[in-house]
Amino acid sequence: MELSGKTVLLGLTGGIACYKAAEFARAMIREGATVHVAMTESAQQFITPLTLQALTGNAVFTSSWDSRMANNMPHIDLPRKVDVIAVAPCTANFIAKLAHGICDDLLSTLCQARPAQVPLLVAPAMNVEMWEKPATQRNIQQLIEDGVGIMGPASGFQACGDVGKGRMLEPVELVEEVIAALQPKTMAGKRFLITAGPTFEPIDPVRGITNRSSGKMGYAIARAAWRAGAEVTLVSGPTALAAPYGVKRIDVMSAREMLDAVIASLPGQDVFISVAAVADWRVKQVSDQKIKKVAGQSTPTLEFVENPDILATVAKRPDAPYCVGFAAESENLKAYAEAKRKKKGVPLLVGNIGHETFGKDDNTLILFDANGAFELPHDTKQNLAYKLIDQLAARL
Ligand SMILES: Cc1cc2nc3c(=O)[nH]c(=O)nc-3n(C[C@H](O)[C@H](O)[C@H](O)COP(=O)(O)O)c2cc1C
Repeated sequence: MELSGKTVLLGLTGGIACYKAAEFARAMIREGATVHVAMTESAQQFITPLTLQALTGNAVFTSSWDSRMANNMPHIDLPRKVDVIAVAPCTANFIAKLAHGICDDLLSTLCQARPAQVPLLVAPAMNVEMWEKPATQRNIQQLIEDGVGIMGPASGFQACGDVGKGRMLEPVELVEEVIAALQPKTMAGKRFLITAGPTFEPIDPVRGITNRSSGKMGYAIARAAWRAGAEVTLVSGPTALAAPYGVKRIDVMSAREMLDAVIASLPGQDVFISVAAVADWRVKQVSDQKIKKVAGQSTPTLEFVENPDILATVAKRPDAPYCVGFAAESENLKAYAEAKRKKKGVPLLVGNIGHETFGKDDNTLILFDANGAFELPHDTKQNLAYKLIDQLAARL
């Protein structure tokens, strides 16, 4: 429920992607938002106000001349009661109007009348030729300079049959953009490199050794960092999770592949957070062929060798970013985590209890730094990730 307590004004303009706006409204409501809708005249050719009213449970506004408002000024009252305005789909025409301050209908006027603290986001949606025209590109540049958030557009197959840039983002992606627009940008301009998930150390072509890490904690931190404005690279072991929106994910299997991907991505990073549960050991001799079970023969014996220590390797490089480690222990968390922090030479180590975190949606974190231990009490992993990002913002 990332939009709990938030009120969104959804603006619809006259594009074919209006059919996705209904799902966008629903998706925001599922995240806890209250949604009010304003539509241009053209938008009503594509989808009826009735549909949006039924989905949002709120009256839909289509005209500046609306006596349902006591003062008859919806262009003033509507933007005052919302946390964010999202225009999706946003036509080439509407982008042009915003860029030039034209206020000739309710939606364009209320965008212009919005209080300074209300962010305006637009989701361009149009034919590729319309998108690429110099006039549209000039207008988009103007909106960027004016502080308007541009969501997309994506490339792909278009309703008109063309293929190219101009498709509206999908509703779930738009929701991510709205959530991010409401977060304080404490990590703007920062670059984060994060590892997450387990590693998988092969025994033979079909078998391997892994652990119970789900990747949820690392993915939540990657999501929180991106929402706080950071550019995020996530090096992930095998997980069942989708890449967090906005985050660049690099998939790896073994500890050595993870180290290679981390070292290759390291230049220019400000923060490295090692959340992955990296296998301490790998099998010394990986068999090229499946090890067969033969009746009457003894069971195989596996010999292990130590894996590289990714966090310690990064922390002792001369170009090391600010390094944060994670320790998942089954007991003696305080003693082990503090010892691990010193051994790895990192300023901050986050401890958690392995069997209480692996696979779960919630967790308790204990932060260890030079000043001692500090607990982030039991919460969802996503909320803990936000709190960890706040802690980092105070330390960086
Ligand atoms: C069937 C149809 C589909 C359209 N689709 C789009 C579109 O996807 N994007 C766009 O910018 N304009 C599109 N237009 C053109 C706009 O509807 C037109 O520019 C209109 O004036 C926009 O008004 P508004 O910005 O006030 O909503 C389409 C027009 C028609 C007839």
